[in-house]
Amino acid sequence: MGNKSNGHSWDPSRHYKDVKVAKDYDRIRFSSLSGRVFNNQEKQIIRECFQDLPRDTVVLDLPCGTGRLADILLESGLRVHGADISDEMLVVANERLANYGEFFTTEVIDAFKLSGKEPQFEAALCARVLMHFPLQTQIEFLRGVASITRKRIVINHSLNSPYQRFRRWIKKLLGHPRSANYPVSNSEIKQLLAESGFVEVKRRRINSLISEAVYIIAERSTE
Ligand SMILES: C[S@@+](CC[C@H](N)C(=O)[O-])C[C@H]1O[C@@H](n2cnc3c(N)ncnc32)[C@H](O)[C@@H]1O
Repeated sequence: MGNKSNGHSWDPSRHYKDVKVAKDYDRIRFSSLSGRVFNNQEKQIIRECFQDLPRDTVVLDLPCGTGRLADILLESGLRVHGADISDEMLVVANERLANYGEFFTTEVIDAFKLSGKEPQFEAALCARVLMHFPLQTQIEFLRGVASITRKRIVINHSLNSPYQRFRRWIKKLLGHPRSANYPVSNSEIKQLLAESGFVEVKRRRINSLISEAVYIIAERSTE
């Protein structure tokens, strides 16, 4: 399940179990000016993706990480069940979201070990994880999330289009840090969702000229 990043074998299911990685996660990614702007825009999009749900709906946030995005859902009046394979990330999330009391609960879950479980949640958020795995492993991860979700899944991903490949090439020439390992094309997004029993109903972009991030609202397929 690992992949190669910067020449080292990197396993996203193990990497975040390090206490220091968990404690530094938000500061390293989102404390610069551009990081803060992106973080705010991403939170607004996530809020909009769930805004039509009745208050009090319990949203599954898998993987929840440090609770960065759970925060905005809780602020909107939703309840959140934050699940992650890393207890260390959930410790940070629980500290951050302690004010929400019973509205925020957590559980250590391995998304790859959920098949055969009963649906428990109306809606789920699956953010910033799929692009770390090859497509077939992404499908296994999302199937796990889908197995416990009845109606809606919101995913974010990195879009692989001719323009974004050109942008990556320029970034590499300029020596910018490496982007997500496994971006997906539109047909791969369709496959990823279809094999999990879902279909895209809407998508949002932050700024398609300068970011490959794409946010997809998917509903359970009726076919
Ligand atoms: C980059 S963080 C994203 C966290 C959060 N969704 C966000 O957007 O800030 C990726 C998370 O995926 C979790 N993860 C990796 N493999 C997992 C698995 N098999 N099951 C559940 N969580 C997993 C990691 O522990 C980590 O917290």
